[in-house]
Amino acid sequence: MGQRVNLKDYVIPRHIAFIMDGNGRWAKARGKKRTFGHKEGSNVLKTICRDAYEIGVEYVTVYAFSTENWQRPDEEVDFLIDLLRQYLKESIKTCKRDNMRVRVIGNKVGLPLDVQNTIKTLEVESSVHSGLNLQIALNYGGRDEILRACKKMAEDMNNNSFTMNNVDEDVFSNYLDTKNIPDPDLMIRTSGEIRLSNFMLWQLAYSEFYFTDKYWPDFQKEDLINAIKIYNKKERRYGGLKDED
Ligand code: FPP
Repeated sequence: MGQRVNLKDYVIPRHIAFIMDGNGRWAKARGKKRTFGHKEGSNVLKTICRDAYEIGVEYVTVYAFSTENWQRPDEEVDFLIDLLRQYLKESIKTCKRDNMRVRVIGNKVGLPLDVQNTIKTLEVESSVHSGLNLQIALNYGGRDEILRACKKMAEDMNNNSFTMNNVDEDVFSNYLDTKNIPDPDLMIRTSGEIRLSNFMLWQLAYSEFYFTDKYWPDFQKEDLINAIKIYNKKERRYGGLKDED
């Protein structure tokens, strides 16, 4: 990846989560099939990862396929899964060049077996890299993740590994797919929709949100920089009192 650049005088969010929305509408506006928008969206993701890392962001998490996305027409689901399959395979090679660590969050069991195997290889091979941490949310739903975490925790309790008294937010966080990954500081959603759509419900509890009308395939480095500038204007209070001076 390129040289790291500083946005002088700005606090750079350590972790940015993206809801990459509007691929379908972007394609329709050009008289193309929705799948054309997804393909362009996957190219934009590559560029934004490079830009984010250059700016100094350490973690990027993207919502690539939700637990609800299976309800889309078969043709679109097949296209998206195949696009993700290719993206993951290609990442096994490019993660070395880019020094990037890639992890997948979501219910992997519900994915085709070959995709599960590619994910395993990619996660193991890229785990040695110290550059950008990219998390791809695949077959992901925030509620599903919390339920899976609760079930795993209950199982461990049944095995007497620990009791209910040991559970606090840190312990619970370690049962989530994002174990060892800091919570996002900033969440960016494109295409003008102002909602979370079941994305990182636990992890986004204290994050700042940035919404833009731009469709994901039109999202560029300048939009990322703008989001970071606005993030810097917001007072992060966590329910505490504002400093009075
Ligand atoms: C939302 O746009 C986007 C998705 C459901 C999929 C996001 C996928 C990509 C950006 C490309 C694939 C990603 C990787 C990692 C290879 P939409 O289809 O809901 O658009 P619309 O709201 O205009 O209909």
